[in-house]
Amino acid sequence: MRYSMQYLKADSKTDIKFYLNGKLVQGMAEPRRLLVDFLRHDLGLTGTHVGCEHGVCGACTIRINGKATRSCLLYAVQMSGKTIETVEALGNNGKLNSLQRAFQKHHALQCGFCTPGILMSLTQLIEEEPDADEERIKDILTGHLCRCTGYENIILAALEVLGKEEGKNGV
Ligand code: FES
Ligand code: FES
Repeated sequence: MRYSMQYLKADSKTDIKFYLNGKLVQGMAEPRRLLVDFLRHDLGLTGTHVGCEHGVCGACTIRINGKATRSCLLYAVQMSGKTIETVEALGNNGKLNSLQRAFQKHHALQCGFCTPGILMSLTQLIEEEPDADEERIKDILTGHLCRCTGYENIILAALEVLGKEEGKNGV
């Protein structure tokens, strides 16, 4: 079977339209514009962080059609018709949601650089796997590098939201 690829000129901008945090967004992007740069620099949503830029650290994780995804590995022009959520979608009218409150309570962040990406991955886990246990939380965290907090408190926060805080070493 033959596949045909749409040809986009490097120096021309392409229309893109997608849902972002519940609102329809329309914009123009060069074919090489990374999604994370489009979110941060073109749309001003700086909650999504950029670390390694090659899919390792997890800082740029957002949700695309509900799935936690590295936004440094995609181009903005690939997003037409998609539904995207960034960390700015969490909480309600400036109030933290239960996962964010648990992070606060358990001191699950220090510098916060890794935090937006971790929150987005854990949000998917909590939604899709309400029975997830500590091992499953650790699986998810293998996709995220945190250089200053350590992972224990992040795990505690996730366990609390999953209703299993007491399962962690009797805490
Ligand atoms: Fe995307 Fe590190 S910036 S995974
Ligand atoms: Fe600093 Fe995770 S809180 S890198």
